Amino acid sequence: MRHMQTFLPLCALVFFTTMTFGQENACSRPSFSDNIEMDGIQRYFNPGEELTLSCKQGYTPLSGPRTVVCGRSGQWTKTKLKCIPKRCPYPDPPDNGELYYEDTVYQSTVNYTCNEGFVLTGARTATCQANGTWSASAPECKPVTCGLAPIPEFGMIVYEKRIRGDTVDYGVTGTYKCLPPHVVVGNARAECTASGTWTKTPVCQVVTCPPPGGINKGYMSSDAQRDFDFMETVKYGCEGDYVLEGNLEAVCQQNGEWSQKPSCKAPCSVGVQRGRILYKGQKLWIKDLKPNKILHHEIVSFYCIDKNNECVYAMPTQCINGKLKIPDCFEEPSEVQFNLASGNQTSEIRQC
Ligand SMILES: *[C@@H]1O[C@H](CO)[C@@H](O)[C@H](O)[C@H]1NC(C)=O
Ligand SMILES: *[C@@H]1O[C@H](CO)[C@@H](O)[C@H](O)[C@H]1NC(C)=O
Ligand SMILES: *[C@@H]1O[C@H](CO)[C@@H](O)[C@H](O)[C@H]1NC(C)=O
Repeated sequence: MRHMQTFLPLCALVFFTTMTFGQENACSRPSFSDNIEMDGIQRYFNPGEELTLSCKQGYTPLSGPRTVVCGRSGQWTKTKLKCIPKRCPYPDPPDNGELYYEDTVYQSTVNYTCNEGFVLTGARTATCQANGTWSASAPECKPVTCGLAPIPEFGMIVYEKRIRGDTVDYGVTGTYKCLPPHVVVGNARAECTASGTWTKTPVCQVVTCPPPGGINKGYMSSDAQRDFDFMETVKYGCEGDYVLEGNLEAVCQQNGEWSQKPSCKAPCSVGVQRGRILYKGQKLWIKDLKPNKILHHEIVSFYCIDKNNECVYAMPTQCINGKLKIPDCFEEPSEVQFNLASGNQTSEIRQC
């Protein structure tokens, strides 16, 4: 607005002079693209007068004459002057940080951020200045630090790496241990978090398990009726032909409970009398299986007849905790049949 005050009287003066020279010979103040500046504020020019052009600050001239001349017919000479914005150098991202920008020309901005666990020191943003330099250099991303981790009573921490001084960088972890018979209750893993604090500190507590108790058809290495300490173990075994399934040992766990105990699985007997079976690679008459007992998980095959091809095939079945399912395809001969044709049993027909 202050401009107008000086401009108005001048305008009147210019009007006066143009009247004197006649409008057809004068050039009026030209207009150019946004980034081109003209000298002075003169509005009308006489033929032969020159007007000097320049680029606004932050822009660089590219090709074309920097002056235009008012011609006899009141037309300015042409100029191909172009003003292009200055470009700042491409900024580098800070270590452990990121940068965001859309362009790097005059008046562009670049924003900086730091990765989680790092604090930004320096300028968060920079602008490309008229002289082609950034208003601020890239900031630094310094790691967040924690003090030393708190230690619970009867406990200690083992850091994943050597710690110098009394600060620990973000992301460093450690593992809490407790002096036996104390046990870590809570999270044994410690970590220096992005906020500069440690994860929750566990406590060290004495842990015991009640007497472990026996298992059906089995025995154990200790039936002492006392509390057992954390990590104490008891071994189990099975009576006679029972087979142990699961872990041989149970251990007193951190939660004061025993780990899963094993169980004892019953043997099976073959529930038919007449016929032959394949057991442990041997083909034998059922009556010759003495004692008539197949252990849990063992496999025995029965002979079934393929009526189309007049041949036999062995069909396996497995003893599962006292239960042996006779294959559906197996047909037990009647006692008469069996005794009459002892050399002509199903099992004696040619194998398929
Ligand atoms: C930089 O940050 C400013 C302010 O938060 C935002 O307006 C601008 O869009 C950001 N620029 C870029 C390139 O992310
Ligand atoms: C560029 O311009 C800025 C702001 O005007 C100034 O502080 C800086 O010193 C200049 N840099 C150069 C290299 O001329
Ligand atoms: C065996 O039995 C089959 C039918 O089951 C019969 O065809 C065959 O003659 C018998 N052979 C002997 C030697 O008994």
